[in-house]
Amino acid sequence: MNYQILRYDQVSSTQDTARKLVAAGADEGTIVVADEQEHGRGRRGRAWISPSGGFYASFVLRVDPLGSLRVGIAVAEALRDVEIKAMLKWPNDVLVGEKKIAGVLIENVGDLAIAGIGVNLAAAPVATATCVTRETTIFLTQDDLLKRILQHLTPALPKEILKRYRALSATIGRDVRVEVGASTASGPIVGRAAGIDSLGRLLIEVDNTLHTIASGSCIHLRFVPQAGWRSAS
Ligand code: BTN
Repeated sequence: MNYQILRYDQVSSTQDTARKLVAAGADEGTIVVADEQEHGRGRRGRAWISPSGGFYASFVLRVDPLGSLRVGIAVAEALRDVEIKAMLKWPNDVLVGEKKIAGVLIENVGDLAIAGIGVNLAAAPVATATCVTRETTIFLTQDDLLKRILQHLTPALPKEILKRYRALSATIGRDVRVEVGASTASGPIVGRAAGIDSLGRLLIEVDNTLHTIASGSCIHLRFVPQAGWRSAS
């Protein structure tokens, strides 16, 4: 794949810049990178705080059912290259322990997907976040990180993507609460994350019944001992 990398000092959101480029004819392989975003966006309408010196990029890719997992894997593996113990919270939040270090936002435009990646490089903008400089002594520039992400984004068969994803998953085996889909009208699902299926959907076991979740916001629940519970030791 030939990539065309366009670098900016400051943009409103690399997602918007990429979208405009796609409307003007840009194709798969276009990458928009900025040093700073004025209005960075996260998933579910949240803001992504984007001070100068972070990593903010939008990749134009083909729409692919496993695309969202593939991008998360590439970011987590790139961070693991520099000895950061990055894991994935379903579908593609990149965590170190329970703290978020990177996020991925996928927006489809026709048959193209704009995959936005934000990585906290030098600063953690909120208390629930961490950043690269806190998690490794290895010096990582924005360009180094981009190169590493691209190395891990090479095409792979679905079976391999799922294997890599499962190896990085911090969610499988955990008790979770998932706000399903775009609305929470049907209420959250609470249960044990049992795995992911061949389409990357999360399987949650609730009272011996498996629920299949295509999209949603997943929260890892802490283990809370119940009355009468005793540890094995
Ligand atoms: C999330 O975890 O909520 C997703 C965060 C995605 C942030 C990136 S930064 C580059 C791109 N431009 C944006 O406005 N958002 C994405």
